[in-house]
Amino acid sequence: MKKERFGMEKQNIDWSNLGFGYMATDKRFSAMYRNGAWEEGRLVDDPMLHVSESAGVLQYAQTCFEGLKAYTTKDGHIVTFRPELNAARMDDSCERLEIPKLPEGMFLRAVEETVRANAAFVPPYGSGATLYLRPFIAGTGPVIGVAPAPEYEFRVFCTPVGPYFKGGAKPIKLMVSDFDRAAPNGTGHIKAGLNYAMSLYASHYAKSRGFAENLYLDAATRTKVEETGGANFIFVTRDNKLVTPKSPSILPSITRRSLLTVAKDYLGMEVEEREVPFEEVKDFAECGLCGTAAVISPVGLIDDHGSEIRFSSGMEEMGPVLRRLYDALTGIQMGSLPAPEGWLHTII
Ligand code: PLP
Ligand code: COI
Repeated sequence: MKKERFGMEKQNIDWSNLGFGYMATDKRFSAMYRNGAWEEGRLVDDPMLHVSESAGVLQYAQTCFEGLKAYTTKDGHIVTFRPELNAARMDDSCERLEIPKLPEGMFLRAVEETVRANAAFVPPYGSGATLYLRPFIAGTGPVIGVAPAPEYEFRVFCTPVGPYFKGGAKPIKLMVSDFDRAAPNGTGHIKAGLNYAMSLYASHYAKSRGFAENLYLDAATRTKVEETGGANFIFVTRDNKLVTPKSPSILPSITRRSLLTVAKDYLGMEVEEREVPFEEVKDFAECGLCGTAAVISPVGLIDDHGSEIRFSSGMEEMGPVLRRLYDALTGIQMGSLPAPEGWLHTII
């Protein structure tokens, strides 16, 4: 183990070569909902859950989750990025899935305790890796008729990760999917496990044809850009505007919301959050995916049933505007650029 600032020992991990995978760390936070109330919760060692065979999560996919990261900053602190927005989004997910909301403050306390207890797993500054935190709530109590579970578990576990897409900043290829991700009045705007289960077949289909991901269109008209299975879109126009799709059936990405501010206030760009007809995509200069896991992943090509849209930024590297956005966002997250008030939540 190597000694870092603030007296922390680090795990002996090859940080720079991590992919986006699961590794059990020392501790996780767990709280149960029983008899109509959330318990206090505590750190536990066991990475396994003990649930009923008839658990709501197993029978009817009653579960929602969040994703956020802890970063080591340039001056050696450990921070998370706007975690109160993850807490608020989890509340929205709970409401839509008939899961009892967490008591005020529990989400942030659980994140803080989990990061502190696993500080040795937070990748060092400059390693290119981060600690991914996965809060989730699952219906653990038995149901057999279709109904909300009587008991739940809230957990926050974490795992050190590298880039979500193989190759990191290398542009990826997408295909326009014939499958839908979310129905117009469905659950696309919340982080329900079920949204991801139903994307697995479509994602496997895309990968088996050499694409990294799907571009999903709006289910009602199949004319507007929605998002991919795990990230929102950002586009750059030829006259340097940032455009991002607005839709009630996409996940309100915290990265995308932050990038709108970064583009405006740090890079002086004009920004537009609006419906994006698929027809318009060929006219953009740059295209990227944004999200906690994806950060900003450049898209070089989109295949629409055999007809290819190629962005002028090419297949070799991130385009210049996305690069500036990427540098500004990660600079803010890792403390090499001043952050807007309240964006960084210092844990150590
Ligand atoms: N869209 C989907 C479907 C996602 O799963 C994610 C990941 O959380 C995002 C977008 C990006 O959201 P955020 O930036 O809050 O991580
Ligand atoms: C995230 O960015 O946190 C996600 O949830 C995307 C994916 C891993 C599902």
